[in-house]
Amino acid sequence: MSEGYERERSFLKANWERVEGEWRSDQTLGLPAPPLEESPKEGERLFALPPSAGFEERGGALLSLLRGRKSRRKFAADPFRLEELAFLCWAAAGIRDRRNEVTAFRTYPSGGCRHPLDLFVFAARVRGLPAGLYRYLPVEHALALVREGDDSGALDEALFEQYWKAAAVFVWAAVPYRTEWRYGPVSHKIILLDAGHACENLYLACEAIGAGTCAIGAYDQAKLDAYLGLDGKDRFALYAAPVGRSPEGKAAAGAD
Ligand SMILES: Cc1cc2nc3c(=O)[nH]c(=O)nc-3n(C[C@H](O)[C@H](O)[C@H](O)COP(=O)(O)O)c2cc1C
Repeated sequence: MSEGYERERSFLKANWERVEGEWRSDQTLGLPAPPLEESPKEGERLFALPPSAGFEERGGALLSLLRGRKSRRKFAADPFRLEELAFLCWAAAGIRDRRNEVTAFRTYPSGGCRHPLDLFVFAARVRGLPAGLYRYLPVEHALALVREGDDSGALDEALFEQYWKAAAVFVWAAVPYRTEWRYGPVSHKIILLDAGHACENLYLACEAIGAGTCAIGAYDQAKLDAYLGLDGKDRFALYAAPVGRSPEGKAAAGAD
């Protein structure tokens, strides 16, 4: 099933061991940072764009979510309500239009609608859910308990100490064959682009309920795969995001 695509699949992995030891970045070597943008060239005509405030009425909620979105690494100690976690799961991986047995459109776009990402959720503090590792089932809109118990220590280690005492941690796993089945060797860029869309949905959904998250690309591949019980070949961890209520977002979250 994965025959021939090991090299391409390796680009989807964390690979942080490659920057350990002797390796030095240009930043560490003191080279100047590349500019923020390609500056306007001499003589190039500029057309100033109006601010987006004109859409306040029609796109008000989205505008404030986009303006407020940022990576949040500090979380309130209070738990999520089950409805909040359910909303975040749906935003990050949910189905909006099921076509048939093998095709379903979701809340985020995916190249060829192949949806090669599975969502795992470690729930530490969610009312109505025993602490444990779950797998989100988008078809059923349900969580399947993979294993019960608070093993956040192992997860923290796999995430290079970036668990941040979150109420829950979302981890997307890649199942590359879903995309390779159609696109073969050109699948892997598509899979990475898909993951970006899914995680941005989670960011915006968090903002909408007074919660926060932070994308995590720096993690220990082998440890996170082992934590999730994945073989590291046909299914492996790709992206993670601890979530929790923002300390300042309690009112918006409707804390009870
Ligand atoms: C692909 C990707 C990987 C990231 N990995 C990490 C990470 O491992 N640890 C971390 O603290 N932040 C991580 N971030 C968050 C970025 O540091 C953050 O998005 C950036 O500083 C810009 O801040 P903002 O999200 O508040 O706009 C990651 C973001 C992206 C998009």
